[in-house]
Amino acid sequence: MHYFKLKGKYLYCEDVQVEDLAKRFGTPLYVYSQRTLREHFDKIKKAFKAVSPLICYSVKANSNISILKSLVSRGAGLDIVSAGELYRAMRAGCSPKKIVYASVGKTAEEIKQAIKLGILMFNVESLSELAQINAIAGNLGKKVDVALRINPDINPKTHKYITTGRKETKFGIEIGSARKVFLKRDNYPNLNIVGVHIHIGSQIIQVGPFIKAIKKILKLFKELNKKNIKITYFNIGGGLGIIYDREKPQTAQEFSGKALPFLKEKGLKIILEPGRFIVGNAGILVTKVLYIKENPSKRFIVVDAAMNDLIRPALYGAYHKIVPAKKVTRSQGYKVTRKADVVGPVCESGDFLGKDRKLDVAEGDFLAVMGAGAYSFSMSSNYNSRPKAAEVLVKKNRAYLIRKREDCRDLVGKEILL
Ligand code: LLP
Repeated sequence: MHYFKLKGKYLYCEDVQVEDLAKRFGTPLYVYSQRTLREHFDKIKKAFKAVSPLICYSVKANSNISILKSLVSRGAGLDIVSAGELYRAMRAGCSPKKIVYASVGKTAEEIKQAIKLGILMFNVESLSELAQINAIAGNLGKKVDVALRINPDINPKTHKYITTGRKETKFGIEIGSARKVFLKRDNYPNLNIVGVHIHIGSQIIQVGPFIKAIKKILKLFKELNKKNIKITYFNIGGGLGIIYDREKPQTAQEFSGKALPFLKEKGLKIILEPGRFIVGNAGILVTKVLYIKENPSKRFIVVDAAMNDLIRPALYGAYHKIVPAKKVTRSQGYKVTRKADVVGPVCESGDFLGKDRKLDVAEGDFLAVMGAGAYSFSMSSNYNSRPKAAEVLVKKNRAYLIRKREDCRDLVGKEILL
């Protein structure tokens, strides 16, 4: 569900015409719908209402501070993985008491800073990190709350690059070691080991793997309970899949329907960390058709956005729907032509946004790459010395620039000419 709809022949974001935005702000341009992202946040909150969860939006999915603010002002906490994300969280006005901090490679400096700010907890990914946080907390004279990120060794049935809860991945602590840590928690006098965190992967379509992982952890809780070790927090991660093409992902309601019976009335505080579910379909990438070129075996639509703006197709073979910002009919001189690859200007054959698409467009027209709210701008780069795109947030009938387009000075701003 989202608020990018065709009205007549024009694509709209809420009550604003996308083509107008392209002309006003230039392209490539990211356009986000605030209503879409807020409704997704509300949906998941409502679905899990029975356990009053803390929903920590996963900043890496889309880290623009205005996007964060839209969610924080609605009660969201944030899931972060770096000092940069912590900085963004503070700029967006998030209370440190609603911040959880994952990452397999937190530096001593990052840990120190987060402790000083008083975040809710670290999600700890190794025994060495646990010792490190314990030592730093001791030096600062603080007692710090942590959760152990357990790797439950569950196959989430998604792309292998975004599978994170199998034993061959780098994430989390294996369940046996985690059990030992709980039993020997006195070894960490400066830590309160208050919870368990799991996150088994991203773009997960079926509810089964989530439930398997949850059950595995609840079994551990039961064992620990018998030894009088009480767990306060259970962070069940993010990972809910969305529709890019013809996927039929579980809804928030279906997910909670299956999960809640296991989570309710256990006296646990539940945390969720959705990223894509909230922003994925709340954004599009608008791009201009520069050239159309054909050879006997192929037709190409060359656009002004590229893999540096949106790397998901190149990196994961991900599918994003591509639609014209203005629908043009055959009678207006357009004819349905051969299928074409939609490609960018970057010097790599992997630089494509879509393959074999049937699109009625002419040079100078605008296209919208759908489902570009999550892991799109946030994964963009300056490859080929391309300035990063601008970002616009639409609220009903108004559009706000929330990130200026970079220019060439930004590209070399940090460089030193010898
Ligand atoms: N929590 C943790 C610890 C995570 O590592 C992630 C995502 C999330 C929550 C949020 O997951 P989500 O609800 O968005 O699935 N770049 C890839 C996705 C990488 C996901 C990384 N971790 C893509 O474009 O598909």
